[in-house]
Amino acid sequence: MATNKPPTSNQPAHSKLVRLIAIVLLVLIVLVGLTILIIWLTIKPKKLVYSIDDGSIHNYNLSNGNHLNSTYYFMLRAYNPNKKVAIYYDKVDVTVLYDDETLSRGIIDPFHQPKRNATRFKLNLASHDVPLHDQTARDLKAERSSGQVEMTVKLRAKIRFKVGVWKSRHYHMKVSCAPIMVHFSSSSKGFQRTICDVDI
Ligand SMILES: *[C@@H]1O[C@H](CO)[C@@H](O)[C@H](O)[C@H]1NC(C)=O
Ligand SMILES: *[C@@H]1O[C@H](CO)[C@@H](O)[C@H](O)[C@H]1NC(C)=O
Ligand SMILES: *[C@@H]1O[C@H](CO)[C@@H](O)[C@H](O)[C@H]1NC(C)=O
Repeated sequence: MATNKPPTSNQPAHSKLVRLIAIVLLVLIVLVGLTILIIWLTIKPKKLVYSIDDGSIHNYNLSNGNHLNSTYYFMLRAYNPNKKVAIYYDKVDVTVLYDDETLSRGIIDPFHQPKRNATRFKLNLASHDVPLHDQTARDLKAERSSGQVEMTVKLRAKIRFKVGVWKSRHYHMKVSCAPIMVHFSSSSKGFQRTICDVDI
């Protein structure tokens, strides 16, 4: 009398294959993870450091029903502390604000920043007959009479990172410098350096 073999005779071979695939996958995942970790440790990316090192207001005239004419000077310092990462700045927009109102817009020409490099930019911006809200104009007049105003400078940039010959995709970077205590040209007081928030 023939013994009935269980119908699932190929089950052990099948589960061996599944186990083998699982082990191969696991090894691959560990290898990829280790590679990423090693690359990360080699590059050691550090945050970019931005600051406003100087600033002043010139040719200020707020009249004609709260219309503002003025020019602004800011010294922006961009520091790339990375030893292995260079940066391409492909587009940089600059905005000057007071009380959340935009006073002036400008751009910084595209530039390439090498490793471990600090670059200073002299930003010359202007307001041409910019209408201000009543409250903003009142605040500005009050602060002006005290000799300095609290301004904000914001940057929006499209950047790429370069490590060796590899270039990353585009990243959006937001930089916010506030509060910047800006003196009027007549003032001879020192400028308080302002460190900016950087968000990539
Ligand atoms: C400010 O501008 C107004 C209108 O253009 C002008 O009448 C006035 O003289 C200016 N004030 C100063 C201090 O330049
Ligand atoms: C700002 O300058 C423009 C052109 O130079 C002038 O027409 C306008 O009256 C000025 N406004 C103020 C408030 O000075
Ligand atoms: C930073 O890079 C710029 C542009 O390549 C260069 O002109 C400048 O001399 C560099 N500054 C330092 C401190 O290396």
